[in-house]
Amino acid sequence: RLKVAVMGGGSSYTPELIEGFIKHHREFPVRDIYLVDIEEGRSKLETVGALANRMIGKAGVPIRVHTTFNRREAIEGADFVTTQMRIGMLDARSRDEKIPLKYGLIGQETTGAGGFAKALRTIPVILDIAKEMEELAPDAFMINFTNPAGIVTEAVLKYANIRTMGLCNLPIGIKMQIAKLCGVDVSEVTIEMAGINHLTWTTRIAVSGIDITADVLNKAAGASGLTMKNIPDFGWDAEFLRSLGALPCSYHRYYYMKDLVFEEMNKAFLEKGTTRADDVRRVETELFELYKDPNLAVKPPQLQQRGGAYYSEAAVNLMTSIYNDKKDIQTVNVRNNGILPFLPDEVSVEVNCVIDAQGAHPVQIGTPIAPQIRGLMQVVKAYEELTVKAAAEGDYSAGLQALTLHPLIGSAKLAKQVLDEIIDANIRYLPQF
Ligand code: G6P
Ligand code: MN
Ligand code: MN
Repeated sequence: RLKVAVMGGGSSYTPELIEGFIKHHREFPVRDIYLVDIEEGRSKLETVGALANRMIGKAGVPIRVHTTFNRREAIEGADFVTTQMRIGMLDARSRDEKIPLKYGLIGQETTGAGGFAKALRTIPVILDIAKEMEELAPDAFMINFTNPAGIVTEAVLKYANIRTMGLCNLPIGIKMQIAKLCGVDVSEVTIEMAGINHLTWTTRIAVSGIDITADVLNKAAGASGLTMKNIPDFGWDAEFLRSLGALPCSYHRYYYMKDLVFEEMNKAFLEKGTTRADDVRRVETELFELYKDPNLAVKPPQLQQRGGAYYSEAAVNLMTSIYNDKKDIQTVNVRNNGILPFLPDEVSVEVNCVIDAQGAHPVQIGTPIAPQIRGLMQVVKAYEELTVKAAAEGDYSAGLQALTLHPLIGSAKLAKQVLDEIIDANIRYLPQF
């Protein structure tokens, strides 16, 4: 009896996940889905749980949805534990985005100082969940979607003893964007990806087996629509893309177009006092109004306004391949183990992996990694290693070095100010400090 436990089950993304389970039910016959949340999220959990039941009823598949505040009950005997919770909810995200702006820094929920703050709040909780899995579901896989997914996954790899992998919708999103750009079906596209979460480079692109990387880089220059909904749609410069030799991901705009992105963010903030968290709050309110409609029994199209679109595709594809020992290739966050030889073995990397019943096995990368890619990846990974240490051990010094090193900060003085303000603003979520 296949059992899946969803941490943060009251999320507005849950109907996305349920749709995935319905679509793949023949290949992945999940019987019990436990949606877990905290008391504070009671009404959201009830609303989402009821919608999930209507969706399942309409589809006529034998899945049972359970909503609960009891995490242990949900984890016990589970085959998969997925995580999509947001510690401190959107209020905390809003602070993560706004504090850096005060210091003239980019305020983003997963990248830079904002992502650091989110890691500090999330890692203690994820390690608690991992401990409960060690006890109650030692063979289960943790599929971690909670951001910053690469950092959170690395914390579990280093501080817990369970099977885990980190998941992001960007790889699948990039494939879809390439398919659209080239006017082909997504099933014909294969890509090779190298990097770390929210900092992956697509180093090789093929359509029906033919290498079209150079062609795509040409087409991608200046093109719009090559980004996720949550990230500004600035086109790439042709010369830049050619010399980079790989397709950057959406989040690379925060690094390669730092000035432009900061200007745009700061302008919106100064004019309206808002950041992405406020947009998301509006979308969420609208979504939950729709979710309450007793006649609604499908995932509403409005959910596509969120950056996490196709999350269910990615998540359910992954669980299906593990369950069926499929041995297909998917891009996930796993322990490096030498695949990127210029990074430590024990860190998390986001690369193509063969997915089988044992988990994810990184595939050798065929394209040489150019210095311009290696350099940024090493710096940001070092920031991540320090962040994991800061968050897991309550190590202030590691936090200070992490923020100083980060390319979106790069100043010891600013790092200290931001770090102190982040700890202060989040202290009730930081048992480690
Ligand atoms: C992406 C990322 C996710 C992130 C989401 C944010 O595409 O891959 O990790 O959670 O965007 O979207 P939102 O709508 O919450 O701003
Ligand atoms: Mn079982
Ligand atoms: Mn992501």
